[in-house]
Amino acid sequence: MKKILVINGPNLNLLGLREPSLYGAKDYAALKEHILSCAEKLGVYVELFQSNHEGAIVDAIQEAYGNFNGILINPAAYTHTSVAILDALKAVALPTVEVHLTDISTREDFRKFSFVSLYAQKTICGKGFDGYSEGLIFLAGLEAV
Ligand code: DQA
Repeated sequence: MKKILVINGPNLNLLGLREPSLYGAKDYAALKEHILSCAEKLGVYVELFQSNHEGAIVDAIQEAYGNFNGILINPAAYTHTSVAILDALKAVALPTVEVHLTDISTREDFRKFSFVSLYAQKTICGKGFDGYSEGLIFLAGLEAV
């Protein structure tokens, strides 16, 4: 069974509370349920990780090497700032999908650039929770690595 690590970055634990007009009314627990039920339907094993700390996300990516077949990541604000997360993704070289709840291309200018996009094989934006399902479908369909 394919193993996928799902990483959510800073403030995504505050979904529901956080700017609901942008990110929706559903909370992080609902996002976890959505991802796990999608994984079950696809027949993939998913582990969920959320952190507000850049280094902890780098550690999780490093630990995915040899343990997971792919990474689905919403780096949140670190999308736009983190060379360290980009370098970790390049180092472990696992198939990676970047996902954003909102469409970062139509928001403030500082959100338009993504370091993670320089490595990710696919970027999904502006589809809310469905972006996570789409990312899982993509990773589930890749040849085993
Ligand atoms: C986000 C977009 C980022 O710009 C923002 O900092 C987030 C969430 C999204 O899912 O739309 O925290 O990654």
